[in-house]
Amino acid sequence: MPFDPTLLAQARHVLVFTGAGVSAESGIATFRDKLSGLWERFDPVQLASADGFRADPALVWGWYEMRRAGIAEARPNPAHLAIAELATRVAQLTLVTQNVDDLHERAGSRDVLHLHGRLEAFRCFDCAKPVRNMPAPAKHAGEGRRIAPPRCAYCAGPVRPGVVWFGESLPGHTLERAFAAAEHCDLVLSVGTSGLVQPAASIPRLALAAGATLVHVNPQPVLTGHPREFALAATAGEVLPALLQAAWAR
Ligand code: APR
Repeated sequence: MPFDPTLLAQARHVLVFTGAGVSAESGIATFRDKLSGLWERFDPVQLASADGFRADPALVWGWYEMRRAGIAEARPNPAHLAIAELATRVAQLTLVTQNVDDLHERAGSRDVLHLHGRLEAFRCFDCAKPVRNMPAPAKHAGEGRRIAPPRCAYCAGPVRPGVVWFGESLPGHTLERAFAAAEHCDLVLSVGTSGLVQPAASIPRLALAAGATLVHVNPQPVLTGHPREFALAATAGEVLPALLQAAWAR
């Protein structure tokens, strides 16, 4: 049975859970898409880990500067805008993202729960003091270019991006809020995620188990095995605006 979009308009509390796919139509590379995905071209352990940063801070900082430059040039796409619009239509919306870009915020979403941190939340790798007013990314921040990270004004340690690296724990309070929303919501839109990285990936399933309806939005096929689980097999930029249109059809 196809998903009935009016369930969105009737929902008391919608949980929107996004992954890299929601930013794909803004031109931001996902991680695991064949060929275009970041992990097809770079070794995650070497680039997205504290050991990798310790071993070669200039390579890791250069890689994040490349990503930061790409994000700065990108614009929120219709999927980000539809999610921000949805928050004005339903009684309660919790937006949980695995993404470290600020495209949800730039689309107008507020109180975004970033489970894997935010690239722009820079801090000192050694003393963890936050580092504010970081200048725009270096123009030459090209792929794989080595750029020495700036130094902390307090301890001269290297500055790191505010993302959660492999082997690091997710921000506890943010994760608690995401789990609470999963327990409380009555509809989840899981948008643009491969659902491979725990504990984030467990959130949509937790909500389903707690009684919510789960809708996957992904051009790749997603296996659905539960009567309250649906898969809309198209891009987020196509599906989400159409879903709002259908849910609130005049
Ligand atoms: N619209 C919707 N979904 C899309 C689109 C699109 N336009 N383009 C691609 N996708 C889907 C892909 O089919 C894939 O299932 O988005 C998903 C992206 O999956 P990943 O690249 O694995 O990204 P994500 O699920 O966010 O990864 C989770 O892994 O590497 C870590 O920390 C990183 O937060 C990331 C986490």
